[in-house]
Formats: sequence, C-alpha cells, structure tokens
Amino acid sequence: MPEWSVRRLHTVDDTQVDGLAGILIDCVEGGASVSFMHPLTRDRAVAFWRRVAQGVADGQRALLVAEDEQGLCGTVQLVLDLPENQPHRADVTKMLVHRRARRQGLGAALMRAAEDAARDCGRTLLVLDAVTHGDAARLYERLGWVRVGDIPDYALFPRGGLCSTTVYYRDIGR
Ligand SMILES: CC(C)(COP(=O)(O)OP(=O)(O)OC[C@H]1O[C@@H](n2cnc3c(N)ncnc32)[C@H](O)[C@@H]1OP(=O)(O)O)[C@@H](O)C(=O)NCCC(=O)NCCS
Repeated sequence: MPEWSVRRLHTVDDTQVDGLAGILIDCVEGGASVSFMHPLTRDRAVAFWRRVAQGVADGQRALLVAEDEQGLCGTVQLVLDLPENQPHRADVTKMLVHRRARRQGLGAALMRAAEDAARDCGRTLLVLDAVTHGDAARLYERLGWVRVGDIPDYALFPRGGLCSTTVYYRDIGR
C-alpha cells in the first residue's frame, strides 16, 4: 500500500505553502526544469506558492497535493483561467514529486487525481508540456497522453543548458 494520500486543496494555509515550497526547492535542487533556476531560495519559492494559493482562492487553479508521514511530498495543478473560447480546457502544470517519494506510483496517482478534478470542473481537454524524453514525459506517455511535438531549446535546466520540451494533450471527455 502507498504511504501517501492525494487530495485537492480548496484553500492553502501557510504550513501548506511552506511544504509546497520545500517540494519545489527539492525538485530544482534535483535538476528539474520547472521554471526556476538553481539555487531557488525559500523566499522565492514561498512567493510562488503564495501566488498559486491566491489563484486557488480565486478559482483560477485547482491544486492537488500528496502527503506522507513527513508532510507534503507531491503536487500538481490545473490552470482553469483560460480564454472564454476554451471553457472545456485546462492546462496541467507543476507536477512535482519530492525525491523521497519518487518511483512509487505517486506521479501517476497525482495525474489521475488531476484528471478527476478536471472532470469535476467540467474540463475535458488537458494540455501540458514536459522536458523531452525526461522522467515526466515517460510518465505521461505511459498514462496515454498524446504527443503533439517537440520545441527545441525551449528552456534552461536549473544549472544551465537548454532543453527541448514536448507538448502533450489528453481528451478525458470520451
Ligand atoms: C516526473 C515525476 C513527477 C514522476 O513522479 P513519480 O512519483 O516518480 O512517478 P511514478 O512513480 O508514477 O513513475 C515513475 C517511475 O517509477 C516506476 N514505478 C512506479 N511505481 C513503482 C513501484 N511501486 N516500484 C518500482 N517502480 C515504480 C514507474 O514505472 C516509472 O518508471 P520509469 O521512470 O522507468 O518510466 C518526478 O520524477 C518529478 O517530480 N520530477 C521532477 C519535477 C518534474 O520534472 N516535473 C515534471 C514537470 S512537466
């Protein structure tokens, strides 16, 4: 049995912001290309999650978290505030699993929870991107996401060096 549980947060308190900041810092420390350069200070990570918390409070984002005996250990988000001609769509972003909790099926569980949350929000088309051929790309392909294509030199790894990104979509309406 997994030693974590996944749930959706409708409000995010300071303790949860701190736990989410810890996950983000760990992922950047581990070399993940997730918007931030290394070293990621706790202040910057907390500022990021405070903005996310505001988006959750405003209904612009759905936030899923996973928790183990040490605290929060994984997260993923749905961006819901898209243009008015895309009411059926959401972007999936910031899929992050702390290194202590990886390779136990948590990434897959978070994505299943994100898809359930998307259905609850009336969203049937999901879009994301991931570092080409990276751990996350493998996860999404295993879960049935459709590969659209690669964008070379899209972003930097946290310690420098360009990486390609691959765009995926998934129709959960069928
Ligand atoms: C990508 C990421 C979210 C995957 O999270 P995860 O919890 O390790 O994902 P899973 O456990 O579901 O799957 C990962 C691997 O573990 C394997 N696995 C799953 N359960 C397992 C188990 N019980 N025993 C052994 N292996 C297992 C899976 O088959 C998969 O193998 P693969 O990498 O060889 O394909 C995680 O690596 C991460 O946070 N990376 C850094 C941040 C990042 O890049 N995020 C993506 C942004 S798009």
